[in-house]
Amino acid sequence: MASEKLNKARAYEEQYAAYVPEAERSMFHVTGPIGWINDPNGFSVYKGEYHLFFQYHPYKPVWGPMHWGHVKTRDFIRWERLPAALAPDMPYDKDGCFSGSAVELPDGRQLLMYTGVREEYQPDGTLKPYQTQCLAVGDGRDYEKIDANPVLTAKDLPKGGSESDFRDPKIWKEEDAYYAIVGNRPADGSGSVLLFRSEDAFHWQYYGCAASNHSQYGMMWECPDYFRLDGKDVLLVSPQEMSPIGLEFHAGNGTVCMIGEADENRHLIRENVHAIDYGIDFYAPQTLLTPDGRRILIAWMQNWDTARSQPVTNRICGHMTLPRELRVRDGRLIQQPVREIENYHGERIRYMNVPLSTETFLTGIRGRTIDMTVDVRPANESSMYHWFKINLAKDGEHMTTIRFKPDQGIVRVDRSRCGYRFDIVHVRDFPVYSRHGRIRLRTILDRHSLEIFINDGEQAATIMMYTPADADAISFEAEGEVLMDVEKYDITFDKEED
Ligand code: FRU
Repeated sequence: MASEKLNKARAYEEQYAAYVPEAERSMFHVTGPIGWINDPNGFSVYKGEYHLFFQYHPYKPVWGPMHWGHVKTRDFIRWERLPAALAPDMPYDKDGCFSGSAVELPDGRQLLMYTGVREEYQPDGTLKPYQTQCLAVGDGRDYEKIDANPVLTAKDLPKGGSESDFRDPKIWKEEDAYYAIVGNRPADGSGSVLLFRSEDAFHWQYYGCAASNHSQYGMMWECPDYFRLDGKDVLLVSPQEMSPIGLEFHAGNGTVCMIGEADENRHLIRENVHAIDYGIDFYAPQTLLTPDGRRILIAWMQNWDTARSQPVTNRICGHMTLPRELRVRDGRLIQQPVREIENYHGERIRYMNVPLSTETFLTGIRGRTIDMTVDVRPANESSMYHWFKINLAKDGEHMTTIRFKPDQGIVRVDRSRCGYRFDIVHVRDFPVYSRHGRIRLRTILDRHSLEIFINDGEQAATIMMYTPADADAISFEAEGEVLMDVEKYDITFDKEED
C-alpha cells in the first residue's frame, strides 16, 4: 500500500504537471512531471519495456527530499509517465531515497535497489548522514519496500569504509548470482567502488573492491556502473571534487570511463581512462542491456555545478540525455544516439560539397528539434583551413557555437550568448581526433539541449541552452577554404508508428 507521503507526491504531480508549459520541456528527452529531477535510476528492461526512474523532488524545481519518479518507453524516444514510485517514508530512508537501479526477478516482479538516507544530529551538533542499501519490489507501477530493509549497512563495509558516503547501488544478474556495485569512501577519504554478491537478490555479502581512485580522479565516486562490452570491462563513475587534467577532465563534478580487464576478484586493471562527455551538462550516467544485446546509456543532462542556473520562472528543472548506444573501440568508449531516433526523422535536407568562407545560411537548414550531421574537410588538400564554425539556436541576439580548429585538434562549444543570465561555465574546449582537417559533427537539438557526437561517436559533448524557442537559425563559417556536406532531419512525432 502506498504511504501517505507517496500518495501526496502522486496527487501533487497529477494535479500540477499539466501546468508546466510544454515549451519548458524537451520534445523527446525525459523531463520530470513537475519540480526537480537529477540522476537516472533503475534504467532497466521489465516485461519487454524499458523503465526509467529518477531522483525527484516534485514540490519545487530545486533539490529536496528525494523521491523516485518513473517513466517507461518501448523505443527510448516516446516516454509514458507513471506515478512516483518511492517516497522517503521509512525510518531508514526518511531523509531521501537516493540513487539506485532495478532488475527483473525470476518470479516476474521488479526489484528496485536504492540508497536509504537517514540523518542524525551528533553530540557535537553536526548532522551525520547514514547511507544504507534498501530494496523494494513491485509490478512496474507500485512498489513495496521489504521488511528486511536495509539489506546493506555499515557492518557490510570493509575496514575504513564510510557509512556516510555509501550510495548508488547498480545491480545486475549473471548466471550464478546477482551482483551490485556501490560507491564508497575508503579511509583516505577519496573514492572506491565496492562489489557485493547475492544468490537471491535479497541477502547480500561483500565480495571485494572493484576499483579505488586513491584521489587520482576526484574524490567520492558517485553512481558507478560496471559492465563488459566488446571484450573489455568498463567502469563508469561520476567523481566529485575533480581537479582538471589538461583538457580531459574539468574541475568539479565530472564523469570518467575506465576501460580494462577485471582480475579474478573482479578488480578492474585499468588500461585507459577518459571523460565520458566533454560538454558542460552531463552527470551520473546509467546503462542497461537491451534484449538485442545493445548497451544503452542515459545520463542526467545537468551537472551539480550548473543545474541551478536555469530561468528563475521555470516550473521544472532537469532533463535526461538522449539514450546512447555504447561500443568499445581502440580502448575508448564510443557513443552514438540510440538508433530509434531515426524512426522519427522527418524530411531529409541535404547539401553536398558546399564551399565555405563567409557566414553561410542554407535554405531549410534550421530548427530546434533536429538531427544534423556536418562533414567538414579542407577544400584544398595542400592548404589547411584555420577554423570552422557552426552557429545554432541563433537569432539577432542569441547563438551557441561549435568551433573546430584543425591545427590544434580542439573543438570549442560556446553558449555564452545562448540566453543564460548566470555567469557560470559557458565554454568548454576539448581535444578531438581529426584526420587531415576532416571531422564529422552530428548534433541533436531538442529545444533546450545540444548533444554533439564527433566522428561517429568517438566523443560526445552535451550542453543545455535556455534560448528562446524562435531562435532557430543555423549558419556556417570558416576561415580558410572548407568544403562541407550537411544532412538534416527534423524530429517529428507526426509519422505514425506501426
Ligand atoms: C549524484 C547523487 C548521488 C545521490 C543522488 C542524490 O548526482 O549525488 O550520489 O544518490 O545524487 O540525489
